[in-house]
Amino acid sequence: MPFRTLRDLDATGLRVFLRADLNVPLKDGVIKDATRIQETLPTLRHLLGQGASVVLASHLGRPAGAGFEAAYSLAPVAEWLRGQGFDARMASGVCGEAVLAEAQALKPGQVLLLENLRFDKGETKNKPEFAKALAALADAYVDDAFGSSHRAHASVSGMVEDFPPERTAAGFLMEKELKALARVVEHPDPPLVAVFGGAKVSDKIDLIRHFLGKAEAILIGGAMSYTFLKSKGVAIGTSLCEEDKIALAGEILAEAEGKGTRLLLPLDHVVADRLDADAECALTQDQEVPEGRMGLDIGPESVAAYSLEIRSARTLVWNGPMGVFELDPFSAGTLSIAEEMAAAANRGAFVLVGGGDSVAAANKAGVTSRLGHVSTGGGASLEYLSGLKLPGVAALER
Ligand code: 3PG
Ligand code: MG
Repeated sequence: MPFRTLRDLDATGLRVFLRADLNVPLKDGVIKDATRIQETLPTLRHLLGQGASVVLASHLGRPAGAGFEAAYSLAPVAEWLRGQGFDARMASGVCGEAVLAEAQALKPGQVLLLENLRFDKGETKNKPEFAKALAALADAYVDDAFGSSHRAHASVSGMVEDFPPERTAAGFLMEKELKALARVVEHPDPPLVAVFGGAKVSDKIDLIRHFLGKAEAILIGGAMSYTFLKSKGVAIGTSLCEEDKIALAGEILAEAEGKGTRLLLPLDHVVADRLDADAECALTQDQEVPEGRMGLDIGPESVAAYSLEIRSARTLVWNGPMGVFELDPFSAGTLSIAEEMAAAANRGAFVLVGGGDSVAAANKAGVTSRLGHVSTGGGASLEYLSGLKLPGVAALER
């Protein structure tokens, strides 16, 4: 790995700043899904077990950046940690004199959770004064916030240079995520098959392009397939389509051919006259969507064709649903793909799922625990898979 990990850092007796992604869904102060906290516990336990004290920090949601807002407080996370037996307390703020005193009072084994970093606009604006104030709280810096590593924010990139390189390291979650991504992007065991879905071609251009020439096949689903189909002159009815991206979709299809990657489009669709779970649904006979109908899921012939590709793969990456899986009548395509992914993982293929929607789909299909690697970072994994350098990772590679 081109960055230091926890194995390169002796944290004994140090006060460690641990940037985690504790951006968990909350409703009325109750944590709805603690996955992100759970995933960072190995790092937290390791540091505390070495006899470090930990200044734990994260953002939560997108507050205005003008100070404390109760709805975005990280206090429920501190409570959750105490419930798991951690000696964790809430800091009185994000940084500054009082918080510094609280950090200095920490004993080995104790955790001080800072308030939501985004209460200070210095975080998202990556202000040097704010980065310095954060760095002043600790002797070492550990980044486990893979889900935030695509943000060039103070706690993710700015503050890292205030520590000597040997006092910085990636946490276990960060390391696990980056290793999984490298297994797909840098050294995939071939054949590599990518399944990309979602609404917009414009969101996925870099992603698709980055896999041209790398993947044996790219299977396209979701509303973006209609922009591709239209570029080939196929009738798409009232399906979603980015008119201004039709030419680009055509270019990508041509590029795929030139680079030897088969780019598959749906062969049939589940259609309805409107996006509504109660709408009357029908299956198309072929690739064409009848007039007055919109495609809302891939049909069984597409599922069969895509499944064959998935079964032949040794490495699989999945980002984006095949249809409007949140509504039952349009969920079969996405759920079948999730099942195929899990079956592939069972057979020994390496499967990486990234992107909030695909993770939600895997959860709905009940296969998440059977998949090889389910990323905790939606935007971050998408950017990495698109070939972009993540600021949080660049900071660690110094
Ligand atoms: C996420 O949930 O995607 C990460 O925590 C980053 O949050 P952001 O998209 O608000 O920067
Ligand atoms: Mg995000």
